[in-house]
Amino acid sequence: MSRQNLVLGIETSCDETGMALYCPKEGLLTHTLFSQIDLHACYGGVIPELASRTQLEKIHLIFQEIFNHSSFSFQDVKTVAVTNRPGLPGSLLVGVSFAKAVAWAGQKKLIGINHLEGHIFSSFLEHNVPFPHLCLTASGGHTSLYLVEDFSVFSLICTTKDDAAGEAFDKIAKLMNLPYPGGPVIEKMGAEKDFYDFYAYPRCTAGALEFSFSGLKTAVLYHLVKLGAYDLKTKQFCQTEHDLKQQVASSLLVCIKDIFLEKIGLALAVHKHIKAVTFVGGCAANTYLKKTIEAFCINKGLQFFAPSPKFCTDNGAMIAFVGNYKVAKGQFDSFDLDITL
Ligand code: KG4
Ligand code: ZN
Repeated sequence: MSRQNLVLGIETSCDETGMALYCPKEGLLTHTLFSQIDLHACYGGVIPELASRTQLEKIHLIFQEIFNHSSFSFQDVKTVAVTNRPGLPGSLLVGVSFAKAVAWAGQKKLIGINHLEGHIFSSFLEHNVPFPHLCLTASGGHTSLYLVEDFSVFSLICTTKDDAAGEAFDKIAKLMNLPYPGGPVIEKMGAEKDFYDFYAYPRCTAGALEFSFSGLKTAVLYHLVKLGAYDLKTKQFCQTEHDLKQQVASSLLVCIKDIFLEKIGLALAVHKHIKAVTFVGGCAANTYLKKTIEAFCINKGLQFFAPSPKFCTDNGAMIAFVGNYKVAKGQFDSFDLDITL
């Protein structure tokens, strides 16, 4: 089937190679993703050098896949939108260089996209979200609240002064010898204890409009040490009891949920004209967090939106979506486009 003026979105800011085709009239047509999670799992986190090398190996295969396995042709693409900031430098460079090459060869327009803007507008892939709204972005690299007033028009309300929420899940999972990424396994174990708050971990920065998660990681670490479950000298988790891990996971989720709700509440007290709240980024794949934030918002008479899990973690669709509205605004870049960290 032939359609014109399509936007090809390319996302390679970290360990995912994502591409998508977006049609101004019909919306998202197709998207594809290669995730490197299995490659990095044994290291307990993303190894930047391995991530960029794998991006390089995969990117042309993903490009071929999106056109070979769909009925769309690269000829129908008018604009190539690519994540050029922020992210791992090597990974970003692969995506931007590839985008420039195919756009140049195919005489397409080029747009550099802010990865965070991709996450902020990812809810729009499946929902009509009203403006102005609050957006809570929580992933492995970022945890922030934004005031979103229109497409391209958003401002930071608050962010984390140290680690991100997803980073806390990943680091605490690693402390307990649980696999990377920590978020999904912590959610599964927390559910096994019905999200009961066994240990009342500190709600850092309570009362302030800012996030902080590094103290939470340290609190869990010293709690495990006190219980004799973690050896600081060998840096080994030395407790095989499944029950303890479940209790830590359950308490951690309640703690992070409380922090999220408190910050949303503080932001709503300042920004009284808000119509809705969105929850995006990798942590928004968490059903417990999503449901509790949704209940909190509905209770306040606000609409709530979150993308499906496949659009919470990094993906090309959100980049293609932002690219599409930038086309409408005529916000193109030159072929001097570079990465920004
Ligand atoms: O958005 P994303 O794919 O990459 C970044 O931009 O960071 O987010 C990855 C993060 C990881 O820290 C991972 O542990 C977290 O999202 N995550 C989750 C869940 N699934 C992924 N956190 C909590 N619950 C989940 N189900
Ligand atoms: Zn991301």
